[in-house]
Amino acid sequence: MSKTPTRSPTHEDIDPSRLATMAVDLEEIADGETVELAALVELAEDRGRPASHYLATLPLATDLKLAGEGPLTVKVCAGTCQRWGALDLLEHLVERRGVQIAPVSCLDRCDHAPAVEIHGEHGQLVLAPATSQAIDDAISSLS
Ligand code: FES
Repeated sequence: MSKTPTRSPTHEDIDPSRLATMAVDLEEIADGETVELAALVELAEDRGRPASHYLATLPLATDLKLAGEGPLTVKVCAGTCQRWGALDLLEHLVERRGVQIAPVSCLDRCDHAPAVEIHGEHGQLVLAPATSQAIDDAISSLS
């Protein structure tokens, strides 16, 4: 995580002290090693926080993963890429549904934040920097 974009950050990170609290919340709803997206969304609503914050907490402060499988898995960097809009991308994917979301702490494309990889039968498609529109277009063309 040595490089970052030359563009100025556009967003703020989640307060690190909140990550610990959200990690505890996630451990409470976890089923073994995984958390169901529906349960995570419900938890976020209960706590009055965006679902994307809980999704980012998964790789940043827990060993948990999001449950489920699908033909397309969208890996979203929730690390420093947060400062370039990664949380908005996660929020978009939650609303969009229909793909497996896999938040990760880094995709090793930090200088092209926010970084996303779409994995499936096609192999791997990299979107960096990614936008919600580019993700939707890629999912449509790959589905
Ligand atoms: S922080 Fe490395 S790809 Fe996002």
